[in-house]
Amino acid sequence: MGRHAAERRQDLVSLYREAQGCTRCPLHATRTQVVFGSGNADADLMLVGEAPGFNEDAQGVPFVGRAGKLLEELLVDNGLRRSDVFITNVLKSRPPANRDPQPSEIDACRPYLDRQVELIEPRVICTLGNFATKLLSASPRGITQVHGEPQHREIGSREVVLYPLFHPAAALRTPRVKEQLAQDFARLPGLLAEGAAVPVQTASAVEQLGLLD
Ligand code: URA
Repeated sequence: MGRHAAERRQDLVSLYREAQGCTRCPLHATRTQVVFGSGNADADLMLVGEAPGFNEDAQGVPFVGRAGKLLEELLVDNGLRRSDVFITNVLKSRPPANRDPQPSEIDACRPYLDRQVELIEPRVICTLGNFATKLLSASPRGITQVHGEPQHREIGSREVVLYPLFHPAAALRTPRVKEQLAQDFARLPGLLAEGAAVPVQTASAVEQLGLLD
């Protein structure tokens, strides 16, 4: 049984404060501000992108540019509001000129993401794009192969359903990817409902015991 939501939220606020002054990697010297993540601190669904871009760095909120607008539209199309979910990134600081995150930056930032998952207790985590997908699935299989394929994973000591999606920025560039993203998104309400009926931990334990087909 999870800890009470109010207590977890308080700890999330403490983590937010700690992250604001973070100097664990060199990105602290070039960022405008930390982009911790935003949304419902007790969300069933978390969405995890790569790293803040120009607009996010300026505003301190993830996915506020064009990609964020598309993400919000897809949420609304599927009966979810931005305020229902928690949105964050693997990196909490913007890499200069939006270059790829470096392994040392990922390692330095990873404890924040793991702790966010522990405190928010989502049942489903959507990784957005190749980068977050490979990292959180701990697999080299790329987004083109695994998008729309729910996987059971342990993240931040919690069992979750990892659901890889194309990055909305890629969808903005390629109409076919946008169609695919919309199709994958349409399965989300069902996945969330399934998780509500059968907690993932229980389901996987039962599977291990061979009690399911
Ligand atoms: N792309 C990301 O991966 N994250 C953001 O916050 C914005 C764009």
